[in-house]
Amino acid sequence: MSPSAGGLVVFLLSVQVIQSQDGWRVKYDQTDVCAAKGSTVDINCDYTHPYGIYYSGKKDRFWFTKEKDGEPVDLKPDSEYSGRVKYGCYSYSDSCYLTIRDVRESDSAEYKFTFRTNEPGEKYTGSPGVTLSVTGLQVQVRRSDSTWLELTCHSNCVLSDHPEYVWYKNEENIKTGSSLPVSSGSTDRYSCYLRGSWNQRSPAVYGPQRPSVSVSPSAEMLEGDSVNLTCSADANPAANYTWYKAHRISDPRPLSEEPQLVFSSIQSSDSGRYSCIAENQLGRKTSDFILIPVKYLPQRPSVSVSPSAEILEGGSVTLTCSTDANPAANYTWYKGDGTSDPHLLSEEPQLVFSSIQSSDSGRYSCTAENQLGRKTSDFISIDVKCG
Ligand SMILES: *[C@@H]1O[C@H](CO)[C@@H](O)[C@H](O)[C@H]1NC(C)=O
Ligand SMILES: *[C@@H]1O[C@H](CO)[C@@H](O)[C@H](O)[C@H]1NC(C)=O
Ligand SMILES: *[C@@H]1O[C@H](CO)[C@@H](O)[C@H](O)[C@H]1NC(C)=O
Repeated sequence: MSPSAGGLVVFLLSVQVIQSQDGWRVKYDQTDVCAAKGSTVDINCDYTHPYGIYYSGKKDRFWFTKEKDGEPVDLKPDSEYSGRVKYGCYSYSDSCYLTIRDVRESDSAEYKFTFRTNEPGEKYTGSPGVTLSVTGLQVQVRRSDSTWLELTCHSNCVLSDHPEYVWYKNEENIKTGSSLPVSSGSTDRYSCYLRGSWNQRSPAVYGPQRPSVSVSPSAEMLEGDSVNLTCSADANPAANYTWYKAHRISDPRPLSEEPQLVFSSIQSSDSGRYSCIAENQLGRKTSDFILIPVKYLPQRPSVSVSPSAEILEGGSVTLTCSTDANPAANYTWYKGDGTSDPHLLSEEPQLVFSSIQSSDSGRYSCTAENQLGRKTSDFISIDVKCG
C-alpha cells in the first residue's frame, strides 16, 4: 500500500490509539492490604475507558496476579483459588470488586484488574495493582523473670482497624489484649484470636509434656550392639533435648543434645539409668529414668584363698571365685589338673573347707557362667602342711 493511498486509514488508526491511552484508567480503593489468614478480603476499583470502544465483540473484565506469554491469566479458573474467589462489576457502573475468601499465605501477591475487548489495542491493566499480604498470627514468648513469661500476639504486617486480640487457654476465653502473662513451666495451651475473625487463630503454644523415652531395639542388648535411645515430648515451639546418665556427678555435662542418644557399639560400662530433658521457651520437663541393662559374658573369674598364709591340716580354708557378668553368673568349683576328669565340688561362689586335710592338696579352678557363656579361672594350688 502506498502512503498516499492509505493515508486516511493510517491517520484514523493513530487517532484511535491516542484516544485509548488517554481515556483508560483504573483506580483502586487501596494499594496495600494486610489480611489475617482465613479472613475474607475485598478489593474494589473504578475504571474508565474512552468513548467509542468496540463493544460488540467479547468484553472481558477480570483480575489476575500472573502473566503467561505477556498476557494476564484470569484468577477464577486457577485451581489455587477454586471456590474462594468472586469478582464482578456493579450494573450500570464502572465499579468492580474482587472478593477472596479464606485467604492463605500463598495468596500474598499483587492483584490487578484488566479490561479488554477482542479488538486489537482495546485493553488496559491497572498497574501498579493492590498488594495483598496474608499473615498468620503467631504467639511470641518473652521471659519476664525466672517464673513469668509474657506472651504476645504477633502478625507479619499491620492489620487494619486496630486489631483486638482475645486469648484462649485450653479452649477457654480468658483475656482480651495484646499480651498475656503466664507462669513458666505451664503445659497449658495458649492461643490468640483476632476479634471479629474467629477462624483466624494462632497455633497454640505450650511447654513440653513429660518426655517419653524409647529404646531401639527393644529386646535385650548385648555388648557390641548398636542401640538408640529416643526422647520425645509434645511441645510448641518444638522442644530441644538433652540426655543425661544418672550418677555422673563428677561429669554433669549432657551426653547428647539431640533427641537421639546413639550407641554404635554399646559397652557394659554403658549400663545404667538414663534420662532426658525436653525444653522450649515455655518450660522444661525431665523424663523418668530408663534402665539400660547391657548383657555381657562373665569376665575370666579371679580366685582368692583365705587365709592366705600357710595352710595347716585341720584349719578352715575358704576359696572364693568372683567375676563380673550381666545377668549375674553362677559358679562351679572343680578339683582337677585340667587333663584328668575334673571333679565337681560346689555350685557356690565359695568353696569352704571347715577342717582341711592333706588329701585336699591339689589344683582347683572355678567357672563362671551366665546365659551368654562361661569362663574358667586359672588354677590355684593348695598345699596342706601337716600340723
Ligand atoms: C540408630 O540411629 C542411627 C542414626 O539415626 C541409625 O542409623 C541406626 O540405624 C539406628 N539404630 C537402631 C538400632 O535403631
Ligand atoms: C533449649 O531451649 C531453651 C529454651 O528455648 C534454651 O534456653 C536452651 O539454650 C536450648 N538448649 C539447647 C541445648 O539448645
Ligand atoms: C548356670 O547358668 C546357666 C546359664 O544361665 C544354666 O544353664 C545353668 O544351669 C546354671 N547352673 C546352675 C548350677 O545353676
